Amino acid sequence: MAAAGSAIGLGNIWKFPYIAGENGGGAFLIVYLICVLLFGMPLIMTEFLIGKRSGRSAYGAFRELNGNNRWQWLSWLCILTSLLIMGFYFVVTGWCFNYLAEAFINVFNGLDMQALTDHFGQVTSNMPRMLLFSFIPVLLTAAVLWFDVNKGIERLSKVLMPLLLVIMFIMAGRVLTLDGSKTGLQFFFHTDFSKITPRVIIEAMGQCFFSLSIGMGTLVTYGSYMPKTQKITSSSLQIVILDTLVAILAGVIIFPAVFAFGFNPAEGPQLVFVVLPAIFEQMGWAWFFSVLFFTLLCIAALTSTISLMEMSVAFLCDATAETKHPLNRRKSVIIISAIVMVLVIFCLWSATGFTIFDKATACVMMPLGALGMSLFVGWRLTKKEPKIITEKDKGIKNWLWKVYVFLVRFIIPGAIVIIFLNSLEVL
Ligand code: PHE
Repeated sequence: MAAAGSAIGLGNIWKFPYIAGENGGGAFLIVYLICVLLFGMPLIMTEFLIGKRSGRSAYGAFRELNGNNRWQWLSWLCILTSLLIMGFYFVVTGWCFNYLAEAFINVFNGLDMQALTDHFGQVTSNMPRMLLFSFIPVLLTAAVLWFDVNKGIERLSKVLMPLLLVIMFIMAGRVLTLDGSKTGLQFFFHTDFSKITPRVIIEAMGQCFFSLSIGMGTLVTYGSYMPKTQKITSSSLQIVILDTLVAILAGVIIFPAVFAFGFNPAEGPQLVFVVLPAIFEQMGWAWFFSVLFFTLLCIAALTSTISLMEMSVAFLCDATAETKHPLNRRKSVIIISAIVMVLVIFCLWSATGFTIFDKATACVMMPLGALGMSLFVGWRLTKKEPKIITEKDKGIKNWLWKVYVFLVRFIIPGAIVIIFLNSLEVL
């Protein structure tokens, strides 16, 4: 459940619709789904396997399993990716907290699309306000890790995340009755193969890794906390299905509304923040639904930021454990939060910085991390211990294990390299 909480977040509800909108809707969706099928489950399994087998954070896992430092570069790539993601992710989480506060006092009442667009610009360029609203989630996340109330949060999200799904279904129902919503569905579900360009492919791959939290060691960290009896196959499958369901549902809500309101689907990062309040205005009980929805969105974002920060904190504890100055959990929380606040300030101050953090992590660093991890498991770990998963994870069928090994040895690394080469120009 914790890993599903990590996966389901702003990546699904904020990022997926805006990236899909910028990359042609249906053309993007099909490539995205292929990426999820090809990369999703095997790469989640790969990270869980590394974490579960080593019992270490992303810092110590490769060293522990390999017996030397040769794969240590992967650890550094992971922590760097985690920090950069937090830099811009907390900014967007800040937008969500701001919108929650505003939904509460009914700010969106009566605003049309143009007014909502202007409103987003005003809000996000208001530096003191954004500092406040981005630091609130940083502090909340730090507090969860500080008091170690992770379990409580996850138990809570077991109830709240299904509720998020229910609300999204209700919203989809309302949106689909709007005039002109069919065009939106067509935009999202109709695949025009001529629109599949190298850019669409690399963005879809990046979005797949980002949305599933793959390629930067978060799932290695969570894997290291797994009880030995837990099956990594069924957990991985559940995460993939839930995460993809939420993303598609977000598309089914946003695009019909975009077209019904005569808005542009390629509006960029502001897309859902303009369209969602407009949807609530069209629904009965607007205040109730918007407050509830933004509350759940903030919680979905927090379960992701918790996993991001947990990864970095575990990393720092692990990395300093054998030095003269070992850092305990709480000291690590302070240090990581301080670094994150600096990165958040940078992303608030520089829109280019924000975009670079966003694109570089999803489209370059996470695929590289995933490439490294699949090579590590495919060519190193499974050669050293060919029975590793069948011993430790009773219940995986032999044939499935063979398919898995084949995928991480050849298909996944091959596909990532080909996609990279194919999109050199875009990168
Ligand atoms: N998967 C999260 C989301 O969709 C973001 C995330 C990426 C979380 C990487 C942890 C690690 O919002």
